Amino acid sequence: MQLQDILYTQGFGTRRVCAGLVQQGFVATGGAVVTDPAADLPTDGLRFTVQGAAWEYHDKAYLMLHKPAGTECSQKPSTWPSIYTLLPSPLRLRPNKGAVQGVQAIGRLDQDTTGLLLLTDDGQFIHRMGSPRHHVPKVYEATVKHPLDAAQIERLLAGVVLDDDPKPVRAAAGEAVGPLHLRLPLTEGKYHQVKRMVAAVGNRVEALHRSAIGALALPEDLTPGQWRWLSAAQVQQLRDGR
Ligand code: URA
Repeated sequence: MQLQDILYTQGFGTRRVCAGLVQQGFVATGGAVVTDPAADLPTDGLRFTVQGAAWEYHDKAYLMLHKPAGTECSQKPSTWPSIYTLLPSPLRLRPNKGAVQGVQAIGRLDQDTTGLLLLTDDGQFIHRMGSPRHHVPKVYEATVKHPLDAAQIERLLAGVVLDDDPKPVRAAAGEAVGPLHLRLPLTEGKYHQVKRMVAAVGNRVEALHRSAIGALALPEDLTPGQWRWLSAAQVQQLRDGR
C-alpha cells in the first residue's frame, strides 16, 4: 500500500495531510525517513513513526482500555471527561467506510465503574459481541456496603426482577470473594445491571470494577487510563465466544 494511504487508513488525517507529512520528512520506518508519499510498503506488521511517535499498522483496530473512574463512555459526555480523550487522535480519526469515524466502545460502563473496556472500528465485531446469542461472561468485582450472605448469592443466581422488565435476570455465577467483595459474571448487559441486581437483594454497590470479558482478563500492568492493542489470538478468542 502507498505510504500516504497507509497513514490515511490509520487516522493521520486527510490524504492530502498524509502526503504532506511524508513529503516533509515526518515519517520513518525501519529507522529511515521516507519522503515519497507513493512509496509502496507491505502493511503486514508494519511499524513506523510519525513525528517521532511510534505506530503499528492495523487493518482493523481492536483494543482494550483500563477505564478509570470519573469518565463517561460517550463521545459527547454530559458531566465527566470522555474515555475517548484517553486515546491518541489517530484512533479517534480512523476513517471507517460508511460508518462512524474512529473506534467505538463495545458496550458502556458507568461513570464510576473502572476496568476492562473493549473498543474497535469493526462494526461486525461490535454487533457480534453485543448479540444475546453471544454469551461471553463479563466478570464484575463489586465492593458492597453490607457483608454478603449465602441467601443474597442464592437470589442473584436464581434471578431477580428489575424494574424495567418482568423477566428475571440471573447471574451466570457468583461468589463472595470476601465479606464485602462480590464477584459476579454476567452474560447480559442491562443498564446499571450489577448495581440494580445487588440492590434487589438488599445490598448496595459502593465500587464496581470489570476484571474480565470471557477469557480476556484486564492485565495487571495496564494502569487506569492506559490502552493496548488486542492480539489477533485475543480477538479470535472473543469472536469464538470464549
Ligand atoms: N453494571 C452496572 O451497574 N454498571 C456498570 O458500569 C456495568 C454493569
